[in-house]
Amino acid sequence: MSGTARLDKLLANLGYGSRNEVARLVRNERVLLDGTPVDDASARIAVTDDLPTRMTIDDEPLDPIPGLTLILHKPIGVTCSHRELGPLVYDLLPDRWRRRDPAISTVGRLDKETSGLLLMTDDGALLHKIISPKQHVTKHYLAQLAQPLRGDEAALFAAGELILEGETKPLVPADLQVLSPTSVRVTVTEGRYHQVRRMFAAVGNHVETLHRDCIGKLALPADLEPGDYRQATAADIAAIFS
Ligand code: URA
Repeated sequence: MSGTARLDKLLANLGYGSRNEVARLVRNERVLLDGTPVDDASARIAVTDDLPTRMTIDDEPLDPIPGLTLILHKPIGVTCSHRELGPLVYDLLPDRWRRRDPAISTVGRLDKETSGLLLMTDDGALLHKIISPKQHVTKHYLAQLAQPLRGDEAALFAAGELILEGETKPLVPADLQVLSPTSVRVTVTEGRYHQVRRMFAAVGNHVETLHRDCIGKLALPADLEPGDYRQATAADIAAIFS
């Protein structure tokens, strides 16, 4: 994001409180810009990417400005939903971030029992670009299977003729790399419900563990532990589409 915004509106949209509450933070000299208390909550300020390095609230750097994309290592057992019972991926982020407007959403979903690379963003245009079938963004999964492969799975997945149970439209071709008789790397460009698990169910197998390690050429960073996240850079976002 760039341009200007009223300070009270910017802070309210970042979840720091109502406009009245953030005006009180300003009056109480708790909001500093370049080390100096800001004196007018209604002032327009330049909203630049470096604002979090220049503005502090209660001595803490300002939260990332809108236009935020996160790379998260989704652990097994958390759900990509705002509503379900049990632990949610949103619980892994700071509480205040739930009150951001625009809101942060997951870019597609991973099943509760699937781990790995999950993108989250407040940038609706970017989200739609990543999930749009027209972009053919590849998603790469490592799967452990219950049964040894039969041998015909790669050809079947590549043919673009496999129809999942309960559907009528065939899957677009997917790539299967065999790592061992019971472990594979699968590359798909669609994001149908439980797609990889259902592809193996269609060939009489069962996925025991599933982990997404790449989206396009963006790999899950090796140093990101399950449950951890970091902000995506412009280079990370370019890698998704390369
Ligand atoms: N395919 C699945 O079956 N589950 C996921 O989470 C992602 C792809």
